[in-house]
Amino acid sequence: MDELVAIVESAAERSRAHGFAYSCEPPAGELLAVLSAAVPRGGRILELGTGVGVGLAWIVHGLGGRDDVEVHSVDNDAVVAELAAAGNWPAGVRLHLGDAEQLLGELGQFDLIFADAPGGKWTGLDRTIAALRPGGVLIVDDLDPARYAEPEHVAKVAEIKATLLGHPDLVAVELAVGSGFVLATRR
Ligand SMILES: C[S@@+](CC[C@H](N)C(=O)[O-])C[C@H]1O[C@@H](n2cnc3c(N)ncnc32)[C@H](O)[C@@H]1O
Repeated sequence: MDELVAIVESAAERSRAHGFAYSCEPPAGELLAVLSAAVPRGGRILELGTGVGVGLAWIVHGLGGRDDVEVHSVDNDAVVAELAAAGNWPAGVRLHLGDAEQLLGELGQFDLIFADAPGGKWTGLDRTIAALRPGGVLIVDDLDPARYAEPEHVAKVAEIKATLLGHPDLVAVELAVGSGFVLATRR
């Protein structure tokens, strides 16, 4: 995928223009696009941590104009959420302002979840797993311990990986590329 589509370019430009340093990197985005394209007809996608919308743009790109999929994205930062809302999103995209962990209990179940916020990943990972439909896929990024300086953060990342890789309801694999991923499917 060597050509960035307009919606991804536009979100990346928004990220640069506002100095938002936490947008997902291309390996995560490309993986998201591939996984989004595989979501079944009438499916549902959830992103925890909208940021300014770069990951969301990759999801929309992966859907390739499909209008049968609901895409929900959650962020708890009103400033960032307003920047994301400036994107030219298709009708199936719903942006939520609030705490990911709390909203996980309210938004239902999903075929694909991108866990990219502390809520639902560093805390409340069990809620994220519970929000996967059978056959649903979870992608968790930023799991490369080399990216963390604080020992407690390195330990937390190891704990998240161990939970996902050893979970009885998941078939999971670690992908040591980009920021470090675990990809998991709910049995
Ligand atoms: C890594 S950034 C998200 C990047 C985005 N997913 C992307 O692919 O470009 C993490 C985001 O999570 C948000 N966040 C932090 N804690 C949160 C929480 N408890 N609930 C919802 N969002 C949260 C932050 O405001 C930030 O925008």
